[in-house]
Amino acid sequence: MNTQALIETARAMVAGGKGLLAMDESNPTCNKRFAALGIPQTEETRRAYRELIVTTPGLAESINGAILYDETIRQRKDDGTPFIKVLIDAGIIPGIKVDIGAKDMAGHPGEKITEGLDGLRERLKEYSQMGARFAKWRAVIAIGAGIPSRGCIEANAHALARYAALCQEACLVPIVEPEVLMDGEHTMARCCEVTEKVLQTVFNQLYIQRVMLEGIILKPNMVLPGLTCPRQETVDEVANATVKSLLRVVPAAVPGVAFLSGGQCGKLASARLNAMNARFKSRSPWALVFSFARAIQQPALEIWKGEADNVTAAQQALYHRASCNSAACRGEYETSMESA
Ligand code: 13P
Repeated sequence: MNTQALIETARAMVAGGKGLLAMDESNPTCNKRFAALGIPQTEETRRAYRELIVTTPGLAESINGAILYDETIRQRKDDGTPFIKVLIDAGIIPGIKVDIGAKDMAGHPGEKITEGLDGLRERLKEYSQMGARFAKWRAVIAIGAGIPSRGCIEANAHALARYAALCQEACLVPIVEPEVLMDGEHTMARCCEVTEKVLQTVFNQLYIQRVMLEGIILKPNMVLPGLTCPRQETVDEVANATVKSLLRVVPAAVPGVAFLSGGQCGKLASARLNAMNARFKSRSPWALVFSFARAIQQPALEIWKGEADNVTAAQQALYHRASCNSAACRGEYETSMESA
């Protein structure tokens, strides 16, 4: 393990008021998003869409790193240039999703366990040789009647920690992503309680597995009320609850917290991240940035619709959301930017 290189990469991923672009949808997830917009679900359309993203002019002004998927990291532009080279040449650090998905957990109805540890050491070696500098693994925790269970939280936290240790051995910075889902009518207080429990368990497992905290990035959910909860807190209340929870359970050694969007609309995700930085940046031990997929990509995807003629307009929409989120990392996002 090259400790210094890991620390430098982790810092670079969250530096300068910029964040990460998640473009690591698995083929089934990417196809689902295409199907919803009537876009053909083929390897070529997925490639064309990812080419649109990686060739967006000026993306590196707001994005430090991009998370790729196994199919994507092997793909090339129309002119034959590998995507990974396009990113590196633009000054964007390439990373790779390495879990193989959240599967139904035996004995735990309604809960999932993320798989992918078998053979991971060999896969990490290959990705590292291809030029990846960081990796991602997502665990999923649902809130509902009687869940999450201790069994689900502990199994997912253990897997995250084993993955993180293998990444550091391969000199890849692990993005550790335990996502507490928004689905349900639970209150924000319940999300807060579950998020803290999950993060406590994850950091305990990271400690047991000897993961170097200075060389990871945490990718958590924001603390939010359930999507169908009648009471929806304000932007400032969400920012307060989220940072308060993180301060209780995330060690100061961690260089950065890069939030997932989890299905929030793009503007709200920007406003909430902005409020966290506007209110807490001077007191926060970690950089508070974004690692959004939907909250950055969705408008671009809706404009593109699979048509070559729409590429430029889609790239402008992607650039715009990325810029808004970079402004939010600095506490300088304003809703007026949306109409500019
Ligand atoms: P969303 O921002 O769409 O939640 O995706 C982030 C991500 O990478 C999920 O693993």
